Amino acid sequence: MSLKIGDQAPNFKAKTTVGEIDFHQWIENSWAILFSHPKSFTPVCTTELGYMAGLKKEFDKRNVKIIGLSVDQPEDQNQWLKDIEETQGNSVNYPLICDTDKKVSDLYGMIHPNASDTLTVRTVFIIGPDKNIKLMLSYPASTGRNFDEILRVIDSLQLTSKHQVATPVNWKKGDKCIIIPAVSDDEAKDKFPEGWDSPKPYIRIVPQPKD
Ligand code: BEZ
Repeated sequence: MSLKIGDQAPNFKAKTTVGEIDFHQWIENSWAILFSHPKSFTPVCTTELGYMAGLKKEFDKRNVKIIGLSVDQPEDQNQWLKDIEETQGNSVNYPLICDTDKKVSDLYGMIHPNASDTLTVRTVFIIGPDKNIKLMLSYPASTGRNFDEILRVIDSLQLTSKHQVATPVNWKKGDKCIIIPAVSDDEAKDKFPEGWDSPKPYIRIVPQPKD
């Protein structure tokens, strides 16, 4: 059965570069990003893991934990982690799951057999503090992901969760937001006493709510 947005993120125990973890316990009450990459000692993965390490402080500010995954052996990771620091200027400061038996990859559908029956594709799962899946994406091995976009999605999801606003096309932090349709006009008057712009009754635009 394939996972869908809104499903509970399956729990698992796994070996990682920082020891064994129980995934749900590791998440605690944070948000989490679980992302797979195909293989250690490959060029695109090297850039991705280094960039994620540089973004970690931004994820920390937002109470988001990050964890990578590949089907490589733990002992293969150590030299590669040194290479990442040397070539990307960031030391990998988050755990990597060593999914050698492909248990987690299978649970999350990270192996797409018609692309490769042995390696994971590039997947990303954003998981909320309720342990439900909020975003899923899959990229081919040859295309490095845009992790700034993942940070942007986190900002959008957290605004929706705290303030019941959605974010329009190409929204950036600080841009105007949209009151979600589930909020009635009467409820919106309480939540947004300054009012909203409404080019159509179903489009209600407000400044980005403050934290
Ligand atoms: C890479 O990370 O560069 C890569 C990995 C697997 C297939 C193609 C590229």
